[in-house]
Parts: sequence; structure tokens; C-alpha cells
Amino acid sequence: MTDILTGLKVFVRTFGCQMNENDSEHIAGVLVRAGAGKADRPEDADIVVVNTCAVREKSEEKLYSYLGRLSSLKKKKPFLLGVAGCVAQVQKSDLFKKRPFVDFVVGPDNYLELPAIIKNAAEAPSVLTDWGRDWRELGADSTARENAWSAFIPVMEGCDNFCAYCIVPFSRGREKFRPLPNIIAEVRAAAGAGALEVQLLGQNVNSYLDPGSGLGFAGLLDRVCAVPGVEWVRFIASHPKNFGHEIIGAMAANPKICRQLHLPLQSGSSRVLERMNRGYKREDYLALAARLKSGLPGILLSTDIIVGFPGESQEDFEETCSLLSEVRFANIFSFRYSPRPLTAAARIPDDVPLEVKRRRLVALQDLQKKIQLEVNRSFIGADLRVLCTGPSVKGGGRYAGRAEGNQVVNFDSATDPTGRFVTVRITGSGPYSLRGSLL
Ligand code: 5AD
Ligand code: SF4
Repeated sequence: MTDILTGLKVFVRTFGCQMNENDSEHIAGVLVRAGAGKADRPEDADIVVVNTCAVREKSEEKLYSYLGRLSSLKKKKPFLLGVAGCVAQVQKSDLFKKRPFVDFVVGPDNYLELPAIIKNAAEAPSVLTDWGRDWRELGADSTARENAWSAFIPVMEGCDNFCAYCIVPFSRGREKFRPLPNIIAEVRAAAGAGALEVQLLGQNVNSYLDPGSGLGFAGLLDRVCAVPGVEWVRFIASHPKNFGHEIIGAMAANPKICRQLHLPLQSGSSRVLERMNRGYKREDYLALAARLKSGLPGILLSTDIIVGFPGESQEDFEETCSLLSEVRFANIFSFRYSPRPLTAAARIPDDVPLEVKRRRLVALQDLQKKIQLEVNRSFIGADLRVLCTGPSVKGGGRYAGRAEGNQVVNFDSATDPTGRFVTVRITGSGPYSLRGSLL
């Protein structure tokens, strides 16, 4: 299968989460291994792959408007257009009916087959959405990383939790765990290629179980931390339901594990959590947040919130606000509920009016902005270790990076420290970032 794409240029566009960003690196890696080169824009490509997210209605709308643009582009200068990822997995060949200008559809577990799929697509519409990825093959040599210093490493895929609102069990299937030796081999290869940070990925990483040895997530963390060269270890996403003491213990024992955790809450009301099928109550989440803060001093927490889930009352919503005030997250991602196909909640009336959802989202974000201003202000005067990610979006000789707590830090630098650790003395802060000067 090598070289069948020689001379062709590929452009990959990614929507969605870090898992999708990493999958896009696999897509590019597999195509480059088959001889293709990379294009910087769809205009210059012979093959365009759109890696999609199905998690919210809005994600899908963004995709369709992007596909619309590609369709006009394709009329001017033909290329093969593929849809990959979560929308591909859910919609399968229905996508050809809705968007007849699409040439191939490929689900998240089938990227190793892309050269053959593309070859077939040149003749007729081609679709592959089988379950079960071959983890052994998805290693360093089939991954074209976006950068060398921070490596995404998938450790599991899928979800067995069936939260009432969530399409993921249908777009990513049931939980599948990557064998431990295979994970460690990729971490070693990434470290050898200069990775200072690794981010372990999965929809529910804390349920990890090595299929060979039965080792759990805490054991995996120990093994990853033992790889020389890696200085920071992060992981995403965790489920509050099964975030055990042993994981907090592993974090406390390994200073390489960043004192930062993304722990999706969804709602601060036990009544709503139960209807969402989340498997924990408000009090359980508060107790876990307290255990994390006492066991890992200085840890910064972030979360996901859905407002306007069916049946959410004003009182339920206020419970979410009060939980935010109590836990004081460093960052939140908040969304209006939208019904998703195949999910349990799609069968119950979406009864919170759009206006109310909008109002609640604004109120929640206003409250969180105040909390973040305070959290960020507490870092003024501190010297933070920052992994520089490149020039700041605002330009002007400024650079940006992330501190251990995952805060965005902007700073001036006469030389380009991209991909390296620097120390920054924090002199100012806003709701979404810190700024400072290089020491
Ligand atoms: N509506 C709104 N937000 C959703 N999320 C997942 N499903 C939905 C939905 N149907 C949010 C959750 C999840 C994040 C990735 O997206 O907060 O944690
Ligand atoms: Fe979107 Fe979920 Fe798929 Fe990630 S796994 S791309 S968040 S639907």
C-alpha cells in the first residue's frame, strides 16, 4: 500500500476535541506514509479530509457550512473530499445522500485503511465505518505530529456510560483500551523525538485497564512518568464517577503529572445529574473536588457545563452557579443543551425555551468570568514555568505558552522560545490569560 498516493497533496481540517486533533495527525501520518505530501490550504490539495465532531448540534452545523464552502471550491478545482470522524461514524453512507459531492466517508477506527479507501473513491463513493482500531499500528511511524514538544498519546477510545445527552457511545463505540506496551513505546518514541509534554487521551481515561496485565490508570500514569525526557504529563478526559483515590495517589507521587485536571461536571443539581445518568450527586462531586485540592495543593480544576437540559428548573440552574462559586474552577466550557440523534434524551421533550437557555448561559459565563479574574489575579508576582507554544495571537514580538495549571501565559521575548520551557514572572492577568516577563 506504500506510495500509492505519491505526488498527491492532502489537506486535513479538524473539528472537535483533542482526540480528533490526534486522529488528524494519524490521518496525515498514514497518508504521508503512502506517499502523499501536505497542502496548507484546500485550494492546493488533491485530497481534502474533514475530521468531524458530532457532540453538539452546533458542531455539526459548523461542519455543514464548511462542507458547503468546499463544494464550491471543488467545482472550480476538483479534489477528492472525505468526511472522517464522529459525524462520519454516525451518518455513514447517509452523508452521500445529504452531501452528494462527498467522495468518501471514514469512521474513527479505520484511518489505517485510508490509502485503499481513497483509491476506491476515485472510482465510486467509498465508505468504511467498522468498529475496532488496530492500536499496534497506530504508533509513532503513522503519526505526523503538529509539533514535537507536546505529544498526544491515545490510551483508550469510546465510552460505556451512556449519559442521556451524549452521542459519544455511538460515534466512538464502547470502551476499547490500548495495550500498555504499545502506549509506552509511543511515549518513548515521542520523548526521543523531543516531546517535553505528553497528553494521554481518551473519552474516559480513568477507566483504563491494560488488556494484557489488568493494570489500571494509576499504574499507567506511573509507567508513563518513568519514561526519561518527559517532563509534564497531562490526561483528558476524566469521569467524576470513577476517579479513585489511587489516581490521586499516583498524581501526588509523580511531580511530572501537572497539577491540573479537567473534570466534567455538567450540572450542579443532583436531580439533573440523575436524569443525565451521570452516576454521581452534587455532594460526590464536591467531595472529590475537596479531596483533589487537599491531596494536590495548588491544583487547578476545569470543567464542562450543559445548561438547559430537559427539565432543568431555575433552581437547578442556580445550584450549578453555586457549585461554581464553591469549587472556583480555573476555566469552564459551557454549552446550551441540544438534542443529539440516538441518545436517550433525544426521546424526551427539549422543554427549556431557547431564550431561557441563552440567558442561563450568559449568566453562568458572567459568574465564571468573575471567578477566573480572581483565580488569575492570585498568580501575580509568581514565577511560573511555561512551555512556549509559539508567537502570541496578538503578535508584536510576544509569545504564548501554558503553565503547569494549563493557564495561557503571554510574555515578551527577544528570541523565539517556541517548544521550550521558560520561566515567566507574572505581572498582570485577565479572565482568560496571564501576562508577564521572561526571567
Ligand atoms: N448538548 C450540549 N452539550 C453537550 N455536550 C455533550 N453532549 C451535549 C449535548 N447534547 C457537552 C458536554 C461534554 C462536552 C464535550 O460537550 O459538556 O462534556
Ligand atoms: Fe466531538 Fe466527542 Fe467525537 Fe471528540 S469524541 S470529536 S468531542 S463527538
